Amino acid sequence: MDNLNKGKSPFYPGQPVPVDLFIGRLTEITRIIRTIKQVEMGKPQAVFFSGEYGIGKSSLASFLRYYAERNNHILGIHVFLGGAETLGDVATKTVEAVIKQQIYEETKLEKIRNFLAKYIGQQSLFGVSINFDAIKADALNLSQGYLPFLKELLERLKDDNVKGIMLILDEINGITENKQFSHFIKGLVDENAVSKSPLPLLLMLCGVEERRKQMIDNHQPIERIFDVVEINPMNETEMKEFFTKTFNSVNMNVADDAMTLLCRYSAGFPKLMHIVGDSTFWLNNDAIVDKNDATAGIIEAAEEIGKKFVDQQIYNALHSSDYRSILAKLAKEKFDLSFKKGDIEKGLSESERKKFHNFLQRMKKLGLLKSGEEYGEYIFTNRLARLYIQFKSLGNK
Ligand SMILES: Nc1ncnc2c1ncn2[C@@H]1O[C@H](COP(=O)(O)OP(=O)(O)OP(=O)(O)O)[C@@H](O)[C@H]1O
Ligand SMILES: [Mg+2]
Repeated sequence: MDNLNKGKSPFYPGQPVPVDLFIGRLTEITRIIRTIKQVEMGKPQAVFFSGEYGIGKSSLASFLRYYAERNNHILGIHVFLGGAETLGDVATKTVEAVIKQQIYEETKLEKIRNFLAKYIGQQSLFGVSINFDAIKADALNLSQGYLPFLKELLERLKDDNVKGIMLILDEINGITENKQFSHFIKGLVDENAVSKSPLPLLLMLCGVEERRKQMIDNHQPIERIFDVVEINPMNETEMKEFFTKTFNSVNMNVADDAMTLLCRYSAGFPKLMHIVGDSTFWLNNDAIVDKNDATAGIIEAAEEIGKKFVDQQIYNALHSSDYRSILAKLAKEKFDLSFKKGDIEKGLSESERKKFHNFLQRMKKLGLLKSGEEYGEYIFTNRLARLYIQFKSLGNK
């Protein structure tokens, strides 16, 4: 296969995965389908997808939305709240998401556009444009009338057999700092519960666990409203299915030893799986991904991961030649995020021990490591940096 004629890479390192390449997560899906059915029958629900950066929260939410729209008469709205700071911003972004909604049936689209006509600018060649000024002018009203807005939306689609709304509030990092957001969410759930005819609403928040904690700190009752679904790294079977299916989609097969490497280094992290898969895809020149292709792919991916996900100062420090043998040792040890100083020291020479001590102090100062509860225990604060050290050492070999 010619490198230049390879066509589109089937890997998506920087964005939620398209539905047809979505892999695994059966346990979580089964659980949420139950929740979706409750909503379809009229009962409001609220879930929180909690998990580390890049673990696959947005992809799972987006897959479930697709599923619910097809199977359960649900209208899904996926709102990305990145950059939102106020409740007005939340309302603005929600209206935008509804307008940009990808709905396949014309009749529904027509009704939504009629409902939101005053926020829609000129119809252009490229579809609808949004009149941001008009939405912004109404932002406060929209945030205060958020539930009525959603109810009205559903009301207008009742004849199209839409039975409920899945509202995904994603990328909540910025907004959770705002105390009002916690009150807003609790208010939305409560106001709905006590209203005469509650809106069949599946409220779905996606965020790292610290954000959920922050919301609870801001308003204690938040703790009780969400069914928390923890999203964990993928297991071996899911990873294998991922690499097999994705490479197969471009007519490439993965040899067993290459598969072992790809899985070991991406460690169940969807984000890494895509980055490693992508670089391997571009480096492979035939129908078989073999051990050499995978090794080269991992080495190339290491640099990208280092630059993107490791703080610049830490990245520079990790490149100091002083630390090379220590990093090799850390890479080889099979711990997850926490290790004991004593365990690593075993097998280090006297001078390496000194450097190791210095390394630990420096990394603590830079924030890559923190002390654990046990004596001599250290914990990596950034999983991708821990994995970066492992990736990197393959290149040094
Ligand atoms: N089930 C899956 N199957 C295939 N690829 C996936 C799956 N889940 C996630 N990915 C891929 O992993 C990467 C991270 O996924 P996603 O953006 O959904 O994670 P996230 O938890 O929302 O991350 P963030 O915290 O950055 O918002 C993306 O490249 C996405 O395409
Ligand atoms: Mg996300």
